[in-house]
Amino acid sequence: MTAASVTVVAMTAEHIDALMPYERAMFGTEAWTASGYRTELADAARRHYLTAQSAEGELLGWGGTMVIADSAEILTVGVIPAARRRGIARLLLAGLLAEARRRGAVEAFLEVRVDNVAAQALYAGEGFARVGLRPGYYDGGRIDAVVMRREL
Ligand SMILES: CC(C)(COP(=O)(O)OP(=O)(O)OC[C@H]1O[C@@H](n2cnc3c(N)ncnc32)[C@H](O)[C@@H]1OP(=O)(O)O)[C@@H](O)C(=O)NCCC(=O)NCCS
Repeated sequence: MTAASVTVVAMTAEHIDALMPYERAMFGTEAWTASGYRTELADAARRHYLTAQSAEGELLGWGGTMVIADSAEILTVGVIPAARRRGIARLLLAGLLAEARRRGAVEAFLEVRVDNVAAQALYAGEGFARVGLRPGYYDGGRIDAVVMRREL
């Protein structure tokens, strides 16, 4: 599979069942529920979710953003283990940021676990810079969040 054979489409309720096992495996105690995802998708005025899929229609990754006034927040990005390091997260992030820009956002923020080296490298490579730390943001107060920001 190459990045060229990956399609990025708007997430629909039909994608939720496919992503849930990966969500739980990737995010553990911080995993969102299926009903949480349905609530997110229902708030389409403020939120936008994308999925990446293979030519065969297999779910490869997903991500979401929320735009309020002129500021966007990247809410989540995940790529299934078998499809990593092929530029899929970069593709999803670009799609989310393009939509945020289209909706009038001029800056984007995100939080990422301080121990998540892969995600921080992804975001830094896409122009996000560290602007703060939220102590004890994850895992019941055990893990800090790095706050990152970029202009759009
Ligand atoms: C973080 C994650 C989304 C990256 O997905 P991906 O599709 O593999 O990322 P990409 O292939 O688009 O990588 C883009 C860049 O990010 C960086 N990167 C990605 N994975 C990395 C890793 N394991 N180690 C170091 N850098 C990494 C690299 O700079 C990479 O560019 P390169 O491959 O040209 O060197 C994926 O590992 C994942 O789903 N992890 C679990 C969930 C998660 O942590 N989500 C983020 C929550 S904030």
